[in-house]
Amino acid sequence: MFDSGFGGLTVARATIDLLPAEDLVYLGDTARYPYGSRSLDEVRAFSLGIARFLLDRHDVKVLVVACNTATAAALDVLVAELPIPVLGVIEPGVRAVIEASRSGRFGVIGTIGTIGSGAYEDSVATIDPSAGVVTCACPGFVEFVERGVFTGPEIEVLSRRLLAPIIDVGIDALLLGCTHYPYLNRVIGDVVGRDVVLVSSADETAFALARLLDQLGLAIVDHDRVGGHRFISSGDIRLFTELGSRLLGPELIDAERWQPG
Ligand code: DGL
Repeated sequence: MFDSGFGGLTVARATIDLLPAEDLVYLGDTARYPYGSRSLDEVRAFSLGIARFLLDRHDVKVLVVACNTATAAALDVLVAELPIPVLGVIEPGVRAVIEASRSGRFGVIGTIGTIGSGAYEDSVATIDPSAGVVTCACPGFVEFVERGVFTGPEIEVLSRRLLAPIIDVGIDALLLGCTHYPYLNRVIGDVVGRDVVLVSSADETAFALARLLDQLGLAIVDHDRVGGHRFISSGDIRLFTELGSRLLGPELIDAERWQPG
């Protein structure tokens, strides 16, 4: 599983809780985050490099792209080039928000890269062409999370400004289309109002992963087994371990360093 940094830990948490017997290797590319403001070509190249490392060095049986920006930029090329199944976060999130919305009118927020790619509109059009989706980029949110700041006046002011267009349209569900955003749940919930259901793709992706492993006969069937968890970062290891353990929980005790080629 990989992400640009800490956001994918929301998917890692959901996966560890749902699939405790499985081994997990998580790579946060903190030396090169944020991905959201980079070109899709660049994110595609980073994603391929990380995928090859996880395959070659860690012999992974399935790759989870725990980042919306990388899913938007690289899922198609990863699926085409890798000899293992690859799961992204966009489709599971879209299925969940369609289910959560009673009016069929919902919002999706994400990074500039994800929203600009049109990947969410494409996915909604494929899954339910009658659904009304409004999307909005939220530059700056990821930077707050990566600094460990989840509440406070600065983030509130930014949220009110960025989310205004979505609120004006009138939606009843909002998909957090960036794996970092669940950490900002409280502020986002306050700003959009409690009658708007917030949907995080993290849980849905873990459910989709469980189904995929079952379908392919790759799931560990020994339910007494306790999976191992390894964490890798391309950036500052001490920072990754400190903030990562706050975000993920006790499984993140230490991390290894990876130097992108
Ligand atoms: N967590 C990533 C996502 O889901 C992006 C964060 C970044 O911009 O690096 O899009």
